[in-house]
Amino acid sequence: MKKVNEIMNKVKIKTTINNRSYKLDVLPNQTLLNFLREELGLTGTKCGCEIGECGACTVLINGEAVNSCLVLVPQINGKEVLTVEGLSDGEQLHPLQKSFIEHGAVHCGFCTPGLLMTAKSLLDENPDPTEEEIRNAIAGNLCRCTGYIQVVEAVKNAAGEY
Ligand code: FES
Ligand code: FES
Repeated sequence: MKKVNEIMNKVKIKTTINNRSYKLDVLPNQTLLNFLREELGLTGTKCGCEIGECGACTVLINGEAVNSCLVLVPQINGKEVLTVEGLSDGEQLHPLQKSFIEHGAVHCGFCTPGLLMTAKSLLDENPDPTEEEIRNAIAGNLCRCTGYIQVVEAVKNAAGEY
């Protein structure tokens, strides 16, 4: 018997991922998280809970931070996606990446890509957030290691670089 994915019609989409344009035939039932990791090899986006609870899979769609495990690939048609791989400018780290390193905000690192993308979305919209605004913004990004203090300091410091 054939598997569901073998008989399902693919969907044509056009999208931009990390400033590169794509025309793709995609499965309508595949999550963006799975597509990024398995089809494009962009494994910086982490797979944690797959139910929208941990924030490890956070990417930006048209500048907005979203849980990519809750997005189906056809939903990025006509949109711009940014993953952690697209954050640096070539060899030049993004101010948030530098600040996370300088403040010891990366321990095991599993949460870090998601935190970076959420923080970027925050600072793009609000370049001078209060500590409360930073904590509210990252409330959906779970970190088991840092206790969040270094993360908040890193985001606050990076804001000064914007
Ligand atoms: S893997 Fe998407 S929120 Fe946890
Ligand atoms: S650094 Fe380990 S989960 Fe955040």
